[in-house]
Amino acid sequence: MGSCVRRSILEGVGSYLPARILSNADLSRIVDTSDEWIVERTGIRERRIAAEGETTGHLAIAAARNALADARIDAGEIDLIILATSTPDNTFPATATQVQAALGITRGAAFDLQAVCSGFVYALTVADSLLQGGQGTTALVIGSETFSRILDWNDRTTCVLFGDGAGAVVMRAGEGKGTIADRGILASRIRSDGRYADKLYVDGGPSSTKTVGHLRMEGREVFKHAVINIAGVMEETILAAGLKPSDIDWFVPHQANKRILEGTAKRLGVPESRVVITLDKHGNTSAASIPLALDTAVKDGRIKRGDLVLMEAMGGGFTWGAALLRW
Ligand code: UT7
Repeated sequence: MGSCVRRSILEGVGSYLPARILSNADLSRIVDTSDEWIVERTGIRERRIAAEGETTGHLAIAAARNALADARIDAGEIDLIILATSTPDNTFPATATQVQAALGITRGAAFDLQAVCSGFVYALTVADSLLQGGQGTTALVIGSETFSRILDWNDRTTCVLFGDGAGAVVMRAGEGKGTIADRGILASRIRSDGRYADKLYVDGGPSSTKTVGHLRMEGREVFKHAVINIAGVMEETILAAGLKPSDIDWFVPHQANKRILEGTAKRLGVPESRVVITLDKHGNTSAASIPLALDTAVKDGRIKRGDLVLMEAMGGGFTWGAALLRW
């Protein structure tokens, strides 16, 4: 039996995608690639690209507004905004403060969090800790990216993989019984290992080159580590909550490669019908991919109140992590 605990309950979800669709066929006119190669190796069919002048901040604000409407929570009630991104509007101030201003919020705190593709799992974990520690009651956790701005459009090994978009959740502290029947975040684990920085990185930055730089990746190396790291951290998270893989209703993974998702789900024993896949339409949107997938599956009625949801991600750093929650 558990005792009364403070839980971070997800009250709503929202997302936003830029209007422009870039298909695999479109890409095959830019670099030496084909729809067949991209679909077979990744599962991606199309991705969205932000319009000229449309920034990570704009996408984040739209996703945040949709999440607040879904939660039926007024922006004035938000105490904390954490925006996971690797493509901020500017080096500083944090894009999160721009979201805060656009929503008319003048209290609490807003900051960006940088853990590349693991950013949303990291942000969720940090927000959960802050809410549990009493730093406010209501948090907006956002993943927003415009990776199109840091891609080398001459490099077919990377430019076909990523897309732009944003997703957000509203979290509110509530009383739980301390059991696995509670709604909210039940367990999460975040990890990193900086020895692998050169496997997935951006070759520029304010203090090194004074430029923004371009994304560079050794895909096969990242793939190999992703499979191992994700499996480990998921098992740890499930165990920490006192649950078994077979308890999971929905698997909402970071959307990098369909082969990674399917392999991971299989290893966990989660049937394919329980895996939320959106990368065919979105590509890899880094920190935005999990909330975009979550929003898709909540809005189409797959994920229902009380369902057990497992999220995981792995990205540059390397960083990785998993979060288990009851929706
Ligand atoms: O979100 C952060 C985490 N990121 C990931 O999890 C990404 C993990 N990695 C991957 O998803 C995969 O490694 C990729 C999709 C990036 C690449 O798939 P792969 O099966 O590992 O392919 P590869 O890199 O081993 O390349 C196979 C071949 C190469 O040709 P050769 O050397 O065998 O002649 C590449 O040059 O495919 C070639 N290739 C392409 N061909 C057509 C690479 N990119 C393309 C392309 N179109 N876009």
